[in-house]
Amino acid sequence: MKAIILAGGSGERFWPLSNSKTPKQFLKLFSDKTLIRETYERMRYKMEPKDIFIITSEKYQQLTMKEIPEIPKENIILEPIPRNTAPACMIGTLAAQDDEIVTILPADHYIPDKSKFWDTLSKAIQGAQEFNGLFTFGITPTRPETGYGYIEAGKPISNSTYKVNSFKEKPDPETAKTFLSKGNFYWNSGIFVWKKSTFLKQMKKHSSDIYNKLINISPWDTESLRKIMPTIEKISIDYALLERSDKVYVVKADFTWSDVGHWVSVRELQGYSDNDENVEVINGKNVFVKSDKFVGIVGLSNIIVVEGENGILITKEENSQDVRKISEKLKKMG
Ligand code: GDD
Ligand code: MG
Repeated sequence: MKAIILAGGSGERFWPLSNSKTPKQFLKLFSDKTLIRETYERMRYKMEPKDIFIITSEKYQQLTMKEIPEIPKENIILEPIPRNTAPACMIGTLAAQDDEIVTILPADHYIPDKSKFWDTLSKAIQGAQEFNGLFTFGITPTRPETGYGYIEAGKPISNSTYKVNSFKEKPDPETAKTFLSKGNFYWNSGIFVWKKSTFLKQMKKHSSDIYNKLINISPWDTESLRKIMPTIEKISIDYALLERSDKVYVVKADFTWSDVGHWVSVRELQGYSDNDENVEVINGKNVFVKSDKFVGIVGLSNIIVVEGENGILITKEENSQDVRKISEKLKKMG
Protein backbone atom coordinates (compact mmCIF):
# COMPACT_ATOMS: atom_id res chain seq x y z
CA MET A 1 0.00 0.00 0.00
CA LYS A 2 0.99 3.60 -0.59
CA ALA A 3 -0.18 6.54 1.51
CA ILE A 4 -0.49 9.85 -0.30
CA ILE A 5 -0.77 12.89 1.95
CA LEU A 6 -2.37 15.92 0.27
CA ALA A 7 -0.54 18.94 1.59
CA GLY A 8 -0.83 21.64 -1.04
CA GLY A 9 -3.71 23.64 0.41
CA SER A 10 -3.26 27.24 1.45
CA GLY A 11 -5.61 27.37 4.50
CA GLU A 12 -6.20 30.97 5.35
CA ARG A 13 -8.60 30.83 8.26
CA PHE A 14 -5.84 30.52 10.86
CA TRP A 15 -4.41 33.97 10.54
CA PRO A 16 -2.36 35.31 12.32
CA LEU A 17 -0.63 31.93 12.76
CA SER A 18 -1.13 30.74 9.17
CA ASN A 19 -0.59 32.56 5.90
CA SER A 20 0.22 31.47 2.36
CA LYS A 21 3.86 30.86 3.40
CA THR A 22 2.85 28.73 6.39
CA PRO A 23 -0.55 27.17 5.77
CA LYS A 24 -2.52 25.23 8.35
CA GLN A 25 -0.79 21.86 7.79
CA PHE A 26 2.45 23.41 9.08
CA LEU A 27 0.93 24.72 12.32
CA LYS A 28 1.28 23.13 15.74
CA LEU A 29 -2.32 23.46 16.88
CA PHE A 30 -2.79 20.57 19.30
CA SER A 31 0.66 19.36 20.32
CA ASP A 32 4.31 20.20 19.81
CA LYS A 33 4.00 18.64 16.36
CA THR A 34 2.62 20.17 13.18
CA LEU A 35 -0.57 18.71 11.68
CA ILE A 36 1.39 17.31 8.71
CA ARG A 37 3.84 15.62 11.08
CA GLU A 38 0.93 14.11 13.03
CA THR A 39 -0.55 12.83 9.75
CA TYR A 40 2.77 11.25 8.77
CA GLU A 41 3.12 9.58 12.18
CA ARG A 42 -0.45 8.27 11.96
CA MET A 43 0.51 6.41 8.77
CA ARG A 44 4.02 5.49 9.99
CA TYR A 45 2.29 3.64 12.86
CA LYS A 46 1.90 0.70 10.48
CA MET A 47 3.84 1.69 7.35
CA GLU A 48 7.43 2.14 6.23
CA PRO A 49 8.64 5.67 5.37
CA LYS A 50 9.36 4.59 1.78
CA ASP A 51 5.63 3.95 1.20
CA ILE A 52 4.47 7.31 2.50
CA PHE A 53 4.26 10.10 -0.08
CA ILE A 54 3.38 13.75 0.21
CA ILE A 55 2.06 15.78 -2.67
CA THR A 56 2.43 19.50 -2.22
CA SER A 57 3.22 22.76 -3.92
CA GLU A 58 6.83 23.45 -4.98
CA LYS A 59 6.88 26.38 -2.60
CA TYR A 60 6.33 24.07 0.41
CA GLN A 61 9.14 21.64 -0.49
CA GLN A 62 11.63 22.90 2.09
CA LEU A 63 9.07 23.14 4.88
CA THR A 64 7.86 19.61 4.13
CA MET A 65 11.39 18.17 4.09
CA LYS A 66 12.09 19.87 7.39
CA GLU A 67 8.95 18.46 8.99
CA ILE A 68 9.42 14.92 7.71
CA PRO A 69 13.13 14.33 7.15
CA GLU A 70 12.69 10.52 7.35
CA ILE A 71 11.07 10.00 3.97
CA PRO A 72 13.16 9.81 0.80
CA LYS A 73 13.33 13.10 -1.08
CA GLU A 74 11.50 11.62 -4.08
CA ASN A 75 8.52 10.81 -1.84
CA ILE A 76 7.74 14.50 -1.82
CA ILE A 77 5.91 15.00 -5.11
CA LEU A 78 5.87 18.61 -6.24
CA GLU A 79 3.11 20.48 -8.03
CA PRO A 80 4.32 23.57 -9.91
CA ILE A 81 0.88 25.16 -9.50
CA PRO A 82 -2.05 24.03 -7.37
CA ARG A 83 -5.09 22.70 -9.23
CA ASN A 84 -7.06 21.47 -6.20
CA THR A 85 -7.38 17.85 -5.12
CA ALA A 86 -8.56 16.00 -8.28
CA PRO A 87 -5.27 16.53 -10.16
CA ALA A 88 -3.33 15.99 -6.91
CA CYS A 89 -5.09 12.63 -6.31
CA MET A 90 -4.37 11.60 -9.90
CA ILE A 91 -0.67 12.52 -9.75
CA GLY A 92 -0.30 10.92 -6.33
CA THR A 93 -2.05 7.70 -7.31
CA LEU A 94 0.23 7.37 -10.36
CA ALA A 95 3.11 6.85 -7.91
CA ALA A 96 1.67 3.42 -6.97
CA GLN A 97 1.91 0.05 -8.74
CA ASP A 98 -1.01 -1.09 -10.93
CA ASP A 99 -3.02 -3.12 -8.48
CA GLU A 100 -1.65 -1.51 -5.36
CA ILE A 101 -3.94 0.04 -2.76
CA VAL A 102 -3.64 3.81 -2.30
CA THR A 103 -4.82 5.74 0.76
CA ILE A 104 -5.29 9.46 0.22
CA LEU A 105 -5.23 11.69 3.30
CA PRO A 106 -5.58 15.40 4.00
CA ALA A 107 -2.53 16.74 5.84
CA ASP A 108 -4.42 18.97 8.21
CA HIS A 109 -6.94 16.99 10.22
CA TYR A 110 -7.14 16.14 13.91
CA ILE A 111 -7.38 12.38 14.56
CA PRO A 112 -5.93 11.65 18.00
CA ASP A 113 -6.31 7.85 18.13
CA LYS A 114 -3.98 6.08 15.68
CA SER A 115 -5.13 2.61 16.61
CA LYS A 116 -8.85 3.31 16.12
CA PHE A 117 -8.04 5.13 12.88
CA TRP A 118 -6.25 2.02 11.61
CA ASP A 119 -9.20 -0.22 12.56
CA THR A 120 -11.38 1.74 10.14
CA LEU A 121 -8.62 2.05 7.54
CA SER A 122 -8.08 -1.72 7.56
CA LYS A 123 -11.76 -2.26 6.77
CA ALA A 124 -11.51 0.17 3.84
CA ILE A 125 -8.35 -1.51 2.52
CA GLN A 126 -10.03 -4.91 2.67
CA GLY A 127 -13.12 -3.51 0.95
CA ALA A 128 -11.11 -1.82 -1.81
CA GLN A 129 -9.31 -5.13 -2.51
CA GLU A 130 -12.53 -7.09 -2.65
CA PHE A 131 -15.01 -4.73 -4.33
CA ASN A 132 -12.88 -2.59 -6.67
CA GLY A 133 -14.54 0.54 -5.40
CA LEU A 134 -13.70 4.04 -4.20
CA PHE A 135 -13.82 3.87 -0.40
CA THR A 136 -14.70 6.86 1.76
CA PHE A 137 -14.82 7.26 5.55
CA GLY A 138 -18.17 8.44 6.89
CA ILE A 139 -18.36 10.69 9.94
CA THR A 140 -21.66 10.88 11.82
CA PRO A 141 -22.86 14.46 11.24
CA THR A 142 -23.76 16.68 14.18
CA ARG A 143 -24.87 19.89 12.45
CA PRO A 144 -25.91 21.00 8.93
CA GLU A 145 -22.34 22.05 8.06
CA THR A 146 -22.09 23.25 4.44
CA GLY A 147 -18.31 22.96 4.13
CA TYR A 148 -18.31 19.16 3.85
CA GLY A 149 -19.32 16.46 1.41
CA TYR A 150 -22.40 14.37 2.34
CA ILE A 151 -22.49 10.64 1.70
CA GLU A 152 -25.80 8.80 1.43
CA ALA A 153 -25.31 5.24 2.66
CA GLY A 154 -27.27 2.53 0.84
CA LYS A 155 -27.15 -1.24 1.10
CA PRO A 156 -24.74 -2.64 3.71
CA ILE A 157 -21.96 -4.91 2.45
CA SER A 158 -20.72 -5.67 5.97
CA ASN A 159 -21.58 -4.42 9.45
CA SER A 160 -19.90 -1.02 9.03
CA THR A 161 -19.51 -0.66 5.25
CA TYR A 162 -22.19 0.45 2.80
CA LYS A 163 -22.60 0.96 -0.91
CA VAL A 164 -23.08 4.70 -1.49
CA ASN A 165 -26.31 5.87 -3.15
CA SER A 166 -25.25 9.46 -3.64
CA PHE A 167 -22.47 11.91 -2.77
CA LYS A 168 -23.10 15.64 -2.56
CA GLU A 169 -20.19 18.02 -2.05
CA LYS A 170 -20.80 21.22 -0.04
CA PRO A 171 -24.63 21.35 -0.18
CA ASP A 172 -26.60 24.53 0.48
CA PRO A 173 -27.91 24.92 4.07
CA GLU A 174 -31.43 23.69 3.25
CA THR A 175 -30.15 20.53 1.57
CA ALA A 176 -27.70 19.91 4.43
CA LYS A 177 -30.61 20.14 6.92
CA THR A 178 -32.65 17.64 4.90
CA PHE A 179 -29.69 15.23 4.74
CA LEU A 180 -29.21 15.48 8.49
CA SER A 181 -32.85 14.65 9.21
CA LYS A 182 -32.71 11.45 7.14
CA GLY A 183 -30.28 9.51 9.33
CA ASN A 184 -28.39 7.60 6.62
CA PHE A 185 -26.14 10.50 5.58
CA TYR A 186 -22.52 10.88 6.68
CA TRP A 187 -19.95 13.64 6.36
CA ASN A 188 -17.10 12.81 4.04
CA SER A 189 -13.89 12.78 6.06
CA GLY A 190 -11.72 13.55 3.02
CA ILE A 191 -9.79 10.28 3.37
CA PHE A 192 -10.05 7.86 0.43
CA VAL A 193 -8.90 4.31 -0.27
CA TRP A 194 -8.76 2.73 -3.73
CA LYS A 195 -6.78 0.40 -5.93
CA LYS A 196 -4.75 2.36 -8.45
CA SER A 197 -6.37 0.41 -11.33
CA THR A 198 -9.91 1.07 -10.03
CA PHE A 199 -9.23 4.77 -9.56
CA LEU A 200 -7.78 5.18 -13.04
CA LYS A 201 -10.74 3.41 -14.66
CA GLN A 202 -13.14 5.66 -12.79
CA MET A 203 -11.19 8.84 -13.63
CA LYS A 204 -11.12 7.86 -17.31
CA LYS A 205 -14.89 7.45 -17.24
CA HIS A 206 -15.91 10.46 -15.16
CA SER A 207 -13.11 13.00 -15.43
CA SER A 208 -11.52 12.23 -18.77
CA ASP A 209 -9.85 15.60 -19.29
CA ILE A 210 -7.72 15.30 -16.13
CA TYR A 211 -7.12 11.62 -16.89
CA ASN A 212 -5.95 12.25 -20.46
CA LYS A 213 -3.70 15.14 -19.51
CA LEU A 214 -1.93 13.30 -16.69
CA ILE A 215 -2.01 9.59 -17.50
CA ASN A 216 1.28 9.58 -19.39
CA ILE A 217 3.19 11.92 -17.09
CA SER A 218 5.43 10.67 -14.32
CA PRO A 219 4.66 12.25 -10.92
CA TRP A 220 8.36 13.18 -10.71
CA ASP A 221 8.48 14.93 -14.07
CA THR A 222 7.97 18.44 -12.68
CA GLU A 223 8.89 20.04 -16.03
CA SER A 224 6.05 18.28 -17.87
CA LEU A 225 3.71 19.09 -14.99
CA ARG A 226 4.74 22.73 -15.30
CA LYS A 227 3.54 22.70 -18.92
CA ILE A 228 0.33 20.76 -18.45
CA MET A 229 -0.98 21.95 -15.05
CA PRO A 230 -2.05 25.44 -16.22
CA THR A 231 -4.37 23.77 -18.77
CA ILE A 232 -6.08 21.64 -16.11
CA GLU A 233 -9.32 22.67 -14.47
CA LYS A 234 -9.15 23.55 -10.76
CA ILE A 235 -11.51 20.99 -9.26
CA SER A 236 -11.66 18.88 -6.12
CA ILE A 237 -11.84 15.08 -6.27
CA ASP A 238 -15.25 15.29 -4.59
CA TYR A 239 -16.81 17.08 -7.57
CA ALA A 240 -14.60 15.48 -10.22
CA LEU A 241 -15.11 11.87 -9.20
CA LEU A 242 -17.06 11.04 -6.04
CA GLU A 243 -20.25 12.87 -7.05
CA ARG A 244 -20.16 11.16 -10.45
CA SER A 245 -19.09 7.58 -9.76
CA ASP A 246 -21.42 4.67 -8.96
CA LYS A 247 -18.57 2.69 -7.43
CA VAL A 248 -18.39 4.58 -4.14
CA TYR A 249 -18.53 2.85 -0.75
CA VAL A 250 -18.46 4.22 2.78
CA VAL A 251 -16.95 2.78 5.93
CA LYS A 252 -18.43 4.25 9.09
CA ALA A 253 -15.52 6.00 10.81
CA ASP A 254 -15.02 4.84 14.35
CA PHE A 255 -12.57 7.49 15.55
CA THR A 256 -12.56 11.07 16.78
CA TRP A 257 -12.16 13.40 13.82
CA SER A 258 -12.09 17.12 13.16
CA ASP A 259 -11.04 18.87 9.98
CA VAL A 260 -10.15 21.88 12.15
CA GLY A 261 -11.78 24.29 9.73
CA HIS A 262 -11.31 27.50 11.69
CA TRP A 263 -10.49 28.85 15.17
CA VAL A 264 -13.81 27.70 16.67
CA SER A 265 -12.87 24.08 15.90
CA VAL A 266 -9.65 24.52 17.87
CA ARG A 267 -11.61 26.05 20.75
CA GLU A 268 -14.08 23.14 20.64
CA LEU A 269 -11.22 20.67 21.03
CA GLN A 270 -9.20 22.65 23.59
CA GLY A 271 -11.93 24.34 25.62
CA TYR A 272 -12.30 27.96 26.75
CA SER A 273 -9.40 29.92 28.28
CA ASP A 274 -11.44 31.78 30.93
CA ASN A 275 -9.49 30.11 33.74
CA ASP A 276 -6.03 30.20 32.13
CA GLU A 277 -3.25 31.75 34.18
CA ASN A 278 -2.47 34.45 31.65
CA VAL A 279 -6.13 35.42 31.03
CA GLU A 280 -8.38 37.65 33.10
CA VAL A 281 -12.00 38.06 32.06
CA ILE A 282 -14.11 40.73 33.75
CA ASN A 283 -17.83 40.88 33.07
CA GLY A 284 -17.68 38.37 30.24
CA LYS A 285 -17.21 34.65 29.56
CA ASN A 286 -16.38 31.93 27.04
CA VAL A 287 -13.23 33.42 25.58
CA PHE A 288 -10.49 31.58 23.73
CA VAL A 289 -7.01 33.05 23.95
CA LYS A 290 -3.74 31.95 22.32
CA SER A 291 -0.99 34.31 23.38
CA ASP A 292 2.24 34.34 25.36
CA LYS A 293 1.25 37.71 26.86
CA PHE A 294 -1.17 38.39 29.65
CA VAL A 295 -4.57 39.14 28.11
CA GLY A 296 -7.27 41.14 29.89
CA ILE A 297 -10.81 41.04 28.52
CA VAL A 298 -13.54 43.31 29.84
CA GLY A 299 -17.22 43.16 28.94
CA LEU A 300 -16.83 40.74 26.02
CA SER A 301 -18.03 37.15 25.64
CA ASN A 302 -17.65 34.41 23.04
CA ILE A 303 -14.57 35.95 21.49
CA ILE A 304 -11.31 34.57 20.16
CA VAL A 305 -7.98 36.33 20.63
CA VAL A 306 -4.84 35.03 18.91
CA GLU A 307 -1.46 36.64 18.94
CA GLY A 308 0.93 35.69 16.14
CA GLU A 309 4.28 36.97 14.94
CA ASN A 310 2.62 39.12 12.33
CA GLY A 311 -0.47 40.36 14.06
CA ILE A 312 -3.26 39.97 16.56
CA LEU A 313 -6.68 38.54 15.80
CA ILE A 314 -9.78 39.52 17.74
CA THR A 315 -13.03 38.01 16.50
CA LYS A 316 -16.46 37.00 17.72
CA GLU A 317 -16.81 33.22 17.54
CA GLU A 318 -19.71 33.51 15.09
CA ASN A 319 -17.49 35.39 12.62
CA SER A 320 -14.47 33.12 12.85
CA GLN A 321 -14.95 31.80 9.27
CA ASP A 322 -14.37 35.33 7.94
CA VAL A 323 -10.79 35.45 9.20
CA ARG A 324 -10.01 34.28 5.67
CA LYS A 325 -10.92 37.79 4.48
CA ILE A 326 -8.07 39.25 6.55
CA SER A 327 -5.58 36.89 4.90
CA GLU A 328 -6.98 37.82 1.49
CA LYS A 329 -6.69 41.53 2.25
CA LEU A 330 -3.11 41.15 3.47
CA LYS A 331 -2.22 39.14 0.35
CA LYS A 332 -3.57 41.96 -1.86
CA MET A 333 -1.55 44.50 0.09
CA GLY A 334 1.54 42.34 -0.59
N1 GDD B 1 -1.30 18.71 -3.27
C1 GDD B 1 -2.37 19.47 -3.16
N2 GDD B 1 -2.71 20.29 -4.20
N3 GDD B 1 -3.10 19.42 -2.04
C2 GDD B 1 -4.20 20.20 -1.96
C3 GDD B 1 -4.60 21.06 -2.99
C4 GDD B 1 -3.79 21.11 -4.18
O1 GDD B 1 -4.05 21.84 -5.14
N4 GDD B 1 -5.73 21.71 -2.59
C5 GDD B 1 -6.02 21.25 -1.36
N5 GDD B 1 -5.09 20.33 -0.96
C6 GDD B 1 -5.03 19.58 0.30
C7 GDD B 1 -5.25 20.44 1.54
O2 GDD B 1 -3.99 20.83 2.07
C8 GDD B 1 -5.98 19.47 2.46
O3 GDD B 1 -5.06 18.68 3.18
C9 GDD B 1 -6.74 18.54 1.52
O4 GDD B 1 -6.11 18.67 0.26
C10 GDD B 1 -8.25 18.84 1.39
O5 GDD B 1 -8.43 20.11 0.81
P1 GDD B 1 -9.41 21.19 1.43
O6 GDD B 1 -9.34 22.41 0.57
O7 GDD B 1 -9.16 21.35 2.88
O8 GDD B 1 -10.84 20.50 1.19
P2 GDD B 1 -12.19 20.84 1.95
O9 GDD B 1 -11.98 20.82 3.41
O10 GDD B 1 -12.81 22.06 1.36
O11 GDD B 1 -13.14 19.59 1.54
C11 GDD B 1 -12.71 18.26 1.61
O12 GDD B 1 -12.57 17.81 2.95
C12 GDD B 1 -13.80 17.77 3.73
C13 GDD B 1 -13.49 17.25 5.11
O13 GDD B 1 -12.56 18.04 5.73
C14 GDD B 1 -13.75 17.40 0.86
O14 GDD B 1 -13.21 16.11 0.64
C15 GDD B 1 -15.08 17.32 1.61
O15 GDD B 1 -15.97 16.44 0.97
C16 GDD B 1 -14.83 16.85 3.04
O16 GDD B 1 -16.06 16.81 3.77
MG1 MG C 1 -10.25 20.96 4.67
